[in-house]
Amino acid sequence: MTLKSFQWLLLLVQILLVVGKIRAKVPAVIVFGDSTVDAGNNNQISTILKSNFRPYGKDFFGGVPTGRFSNGRLPTDFISESFGCKPTIPAYLDPQYSIKDFATGVCFASAGTGYDNATSDVLSVIPLWKELEYYKDYQGKLSNYLGDAQAKVILSEALYLISIGTNDFLENYFVFPNRSSVFTVGEYEDFLLGIAVKFMKDIYGLGARKISITGLPPMGCVPLVRTISRPSANCLEKYNDVAKDFNKKLDNLIVKMNKELNGVKVVTANTYGIVLDMIQNPLKYGFEKVSTACCATGLIEMSYLCNQLNPLTCKDASKYVFWDSFHPTEKTNFIIADYVMKTSLAQFL
Ligand SMILES: *[C@@H]1O[C@H](CO)[C@@H](O)[C@H](O)[C@H]1NC(C)=O
Ligand SMILES: *[C@@H]1O[C@H](CO)[C@@H](O)[C@H](O)[C@H]1NC(C)=O
Repeated sequence: MTLKSFQWLLLLVQILLVVGKIRAKVPAVIVFGDSTVDAGNNNQISTILKSNFRPYGKDFFGGVPTGRFSNGRLPTDFISESFGCKPTIPAYLDPQYSIKDFATGVCFASAGTGYDNATSDVLSVIPLWKELEYYKDYQGKLSNYLGDAQAKVILSEALYLISIGTNDFLENYFVFPNRSSVFTVGEYEDFLLGIAVKFMKDIYGLGARKISITGLPPMGCVPLVRTISRPSANCLEKYNDVAKDFNKKLDNLIVKMNKELNGVKVVTANTYGIVLDMIQNPLKYGFEKVSTACCATGLIEMSYLCNQLNPLTCKDASKYVFWDSFHPTEKTNFIIADYVMKTSLAQFL
């Protein structure tokens, strides 16, 4: 190869690299929420709710347990990749990463948290208001790193994903009398939705314009709830009805917000239907087990009870909808991400 053709080749490679970069549809994906999207923030705090040990992460890159509550990646990781951003979103509190990494995507989520401050207190995890404080801290660092103007562009063009709310019911309302003695379940839904709307208005005020909020999943179908409702072991319809009611109210609030807030685009990533379809029609997706999880007995274990010492953990998690008694497998997470990419999030492509 002559020097001239080598230089041309080099130029071509550079053009392809630039085009590759331009192809990213958003400059960053910014995540708030609970264990459905926590990439490892809980590793850095004092809580018993952790998953940074095997067999968690056994199908992640390098088989590494990261603190994600799954055998592999989370829906948010797949979504980031689909938008042309990186294939995994780093946790803000993870000291391995710096603002250079966070500039293209960052996760503030904390397993076990909820909209309600009382929910995050149950297992001493990061409350939602604190996730917002970390986000403000991030904004400052991003401005120092890129300059105010470029940071502002990234923050307004970024995609914001919010996934939270299940724990307010499963870890709080249905377990302790504090809230259930004061609020009917409908009133509690409204209380949480008030916090959700305030949160979205807060991040809007700080510059967010593209927001996706996930409603509640069919939480009466997670293996832990089925185990508790034995001997029937069916999905607990009472819990699923709460999720459906909550999601309907959320949809109405989002319609209102889109009218009220100038320049915002908020969508609801309603995953209730797709998750229920996987549970009701597992064969369609190649699943074999839906009512029990892969890890350990699959009935009750999660976090420290789902560990390497338990010999019962299944070999092939891709045959299961649930990885532990509360959380989906990587395959389920992929299907959820694929679904929202083709529905609600398609508007941001
Ligand atoms: C939750 O706690 C924070 C910090 O103390 C407080 O600012 C906020 O008002 C509380 N939220 C609710 C709904 O009580
Ligand atoms: C319920 O209230 C008691 C007494 O105020 C408090 O100690 C406890 O932490 C609360 N639990 C929850 C889940 O809010």
